[in-house]
Amino acid sequence: MSQDLSIETLFSLRGCSALVTGGTSGIGLMMVEGLLRNGVQVYMVSRSAARCDEALRSVAGLGACVAIAADITDPVARARVVERVEADLPEGLDILVNNAGSNWGAKLAEYPDSAFDKLMKTNVSSVFSLTRDLHESLRRRAKHTGSARVVNIGSMDGLQVPIVQRVPTFAYSASKAALHHLTRALAVELGPQGITVNAIAPGFFESKMTKHVMSQYRQDIEDDCPLGRIGSAQDIVGTLLFLCSRAGGYVNGAVLPVDGGTSLSKGKPAWFEE
Ligand SMILES: NC(=O)c1ccc[n+]([C@@H]2O[C@H](COP(=O)([O-])OP(=O)(O)OC[C@H]3O[C@@H](n4cnc5c(N)ncnc54)[C@H](OP(=O)(O)O)[C@@H]3O)[C@@H](O)[C@H]2O)c1
Repeated sequence: MSQDLSIETLFSLRGCSALVTGGTSGIGLMMVEGLLRNGVQVYMVSRSAARCDEALRSVAGLGACVAIAADITDPVARARVVERVEADLPEGLDILVNNAGSNWGAKLAEYPDSAFDKLMKTNVSSVFSLTRDLHESLRRRAKHTGSARVVNIGSMDGLQVPIVQRVPTFAYSASKAALHHLTRALAVELGPQGITVNAIAPGFFESKMTKHVMSQYRQDIEDDCPLGRIGSAQDIVGTLLFLCSRAGGYVNGAVLPVDGGTSLSKGKPAWFEE
């Protein structure tokens, strides 16, 4: 008997639940909106209660959304997040999106150890800790429905050394490369339980993190991209929906660049003609 290949069966996430860290701003908020618009119940997490309130207001009316003010690098706050998810979703969580992240740029001699430690904690080790702490919930869900998903937001800076910022971001690119490999390790560990683990490696998108660099170098950024533009909400949400839906069911341990080809080359070939 042939399989149902309709777009609804392949891509629908209606009735699923998702937790998005850093869901109150930038790429995280784009994904929260995209999930809500497609019938997913969403939990978003960020440190600032004010930003949680503001983000909740911006998605009001789109669907069931809860914002939890918590620092994912803090074990006590993380436990609060896990408790809330466990209390609300006794049958488990479908989708965990590890998106929260931070960046630091400085010249080599001025690059502080504290920044390096902070970035490794936020961008790598807290992703590991939260995934471990929500593993039981994801496993329960996968047992019940056949699958659950973890999507980590890496970066094209974890695939190549970034230069467009004009200031080095040593810890950021190292942390994103580490996150990509953590993704592969978790994919091998959790795959047998029906939980896929993948990473998206975005290029440039508008956000709080990129506001400064975008204000100074937007033209260079666009020129560096073979598609000649920055990423949009459709670009990131479409990729997320694919990875989380039945359509992405056989993708496990992948690091998917969503950067218009920027990490492959630099801009258009010199022989390009309009
Ligand atoms: N925008 C881009 O061009 C781009 C490109 C490649 C990769 N990325 C990645 O995409 C992800 C989202 O970045 P963005 O550009 O959208 O940046 P953003 O607008 O600065 O958003 C970062 C989000 O993470 C939250 N956050 C930061 N540290 C946290 C912590 N310890 N605990 C809980 N929440 C925390 C922030 O909220 P609070 O401040 O309230 O905590 C905010 O909601 C990051 O992992 C980033 O590395 C972005």
